[in-house]
Amino acid sequence: MTVSEVRKRYIDFFAKRGHAVIPSAPIIPENDPTTLFTSSGMQPLVPYLLGQPHPEGARLANSQMSFRAEDIEEVGDNRHTTFFEMLGNWSLGDYFKQEQLPWFFEYLTSTEEGLGLDPNKLYVTVFAGDKESGMVADTDAVAIWKKLFSEKGIDAKFVELGTEERGNELGLQDGRIFSYGAKKNWWSRAGTPSKMPAGEIGGPDSEVFYDFGTTHDTKFGKECHVNCDCGRFVEIGNSVFMQFIKQADGTFKELPKKNVDFGGGLERITFATIGNPDVFLIDVFDAARTALEKRSDKSYADTNATRSFRIILDHMRAASFFIASGIRPSNTEQGYVLRRLIRRSIREADKLDIKESVLAEVAEGFGAAYKEAYPFVHTAAGTIREELEKEEAQFRKTLSNGMRELEKMGTSIDAFILFTTYGFPIELTQEIAKERGVSLDMETIKVKFEEHQALSRAGAAQKFAGGLADHAEQTVRYHTAHHLLLKALQKVLGPDVHQRGSNITSERLRIDFSYGQKMTPEQKAEAERIVNEKITEALPVTRTVMNKDEAEKLGAEHEFGANYPEQVSVYSVGPKDATDADPKFSEAFSIEFCGGPHVRNTNELGTGGKRFKILKEEASSAGIRRIKAVLE
Ligand code: ALA
Repeated sequence: MTVSEVRKRYIDFFAKRGHAVIPSAPIIPENDPTTLFTSSGMQPLVPYLLGQPHPEGARLANSQMSFRAEDIEEVGDNRHTTFFEMLGNWSLGDYFKQEQLPWFFEYLTSTEEGLGLDPNKLYVTVFAGDKESGMVADTDAVAIWKKLFSEKGIDAKFVELGTEERGNELGLQDGRIFSYGAKKNWWSRAGTPSKMPAGEIGGPDSEVFYDFGTTHDTKFGKECHVNCDCGRFVEIGNSVFMQFIKQADGTFKELPKKNVDFGGGLERITFATIGNPDVFLIDVFDAARTALEKRSDKSYADTNATRSFRIILDHMRAASFFIASGIRPSNTEQGYVLRRLIRRSIREADKLDIKESVLAEVAEGFGAAYKEAYPFVHTAAGTIREELEKEEAQFRKTLSNGMRELEKMGTSIDAFILFTTYGFPIELTQEIAKERGVSLDMETIKVKFEEHQALSRAGAAQKFAGGLADHAEQTVRYHTAHHLLLKALQKVLGPDVHQRGSNITSERLRIDFSYGQKMTPEQKAEAERIVNEKITEALPVTRTVMNKDEAEKLGAEHEFGANYPEQVSVYSVGPKDATDADPKFSEAFSIEFCGGPHVRNTNELGTGGKRFKILKEEASSAGIRRIKAVLE
């Protein structure tokens, strides 16, 4: 099947089962400055998974453009890509495991409505429980899978494994359903339960694997098992039973409604339908692969060329979507990732002996491949070509400058300087040195290089952490500080002050609000004092879902011009004895419409002795002021 067929069958299948089909969100998240890219279908839906009603209802499905920067280095094997489409279906407190697992199984195996995959090729995993967080094993999922396989005449044996290490040791043991611990069968954006910041949602999951039947390579472990990395088993879908939210004290609470968050890689599901264990053989890569074969005069199947081909194909598809989405090569954020994709591709082209501009030609075919599903990529064809040509020319110049420096170095070639100062690839220096019979002190270079990498990795890790662990907690604190500040401003400047915009990162908060004059130093100091007072008072923060009208009657603050659904979630701060069950709105310090997440108590804002501070107050536009503030 083609990518389009698989996508269409999925959407039709779930639409028929009562799901509203929603569009893919943009690849750059819209309301989440803490994350560079949308990396799963659930990401734009977090407020709804937290309980806010979705305007389209409680059953949703789509195909979501996704990008995982952390997988860049993995590309080159038979199954990893950075950019991909994630097929998704969600139950927002509607159906649960009993419907989800049978539906996905039916979609995979039905010849009429689904993909007609052979159930004998499918293997599944479930959650084995996690002692550390006290989460119990998912025995319901085991029972459901046993029944589903038995209906296909397959006696599915259940094997408890727990860890990958045990899998490597014990192998398949004739099993079909396997349980693994939190590392493999728990899903949240931050990973295992212990890595989740307060306010993050997650739950046990159940994955489906397709068996390509290839021979195990002992390089990956003694025995093969479904979570082995040798490439025989490829994960094609993950049903997350999103039912918990992490609390500030490290414990977990059940969400008000149990959700299903299913995500399956469209490309991987497609290559399972072809039965050939190589994701780069699906139709959307055909044009690019052919273009590259022509230019390199090499075949994709040529074992020396396959890896370079895969990297270029993956990176150019991602780059096409990026450029069409408005991203341009630069040294920061999304632009930096785009630059990296392009430069890595040029180095791989170099390995294929392509010495002149080639990337624009390779990317040419993606517009047509996605013409129906993502017409904006097709429309941007001209821009994609220009941007790739420009960036490629520039990097090739870098390469030739590096080459000139290398020539100047004579027989004392310094690969490290060439790399760090001129961006000249170490492997290339090595090759040239070898050709010329010059020896390089690879040991010293390696040490220097590792030090350098550790430094840049620390930087990159921060950049890519994307709304997760390290960043998320601080961002959540700023969300709550934002509510405190708005109320403080109303107290100091008057009740006509309302929010007109906001932007929160893990570094600071920014609020735009209606007010006609510059604030005096005294007014700023007073606003700061009030916020700090509320932090010291250690007020509980409660969340209530209610009717929009009811919330308006309470006087809950909401942003002018924003569209809210009928059911809204309301966060209130204080009084001291407020609880989720009894929020005591009449005594609250602040009440706002908000999707959250927030801290559970304002004292979390003062962690480590931090104080709230206004950095800047300035005009934003006519009648609107802007404040930037920090907790430090
Ligand atoms: N959100 C889940 C994932 O990305 C489905 O795997």
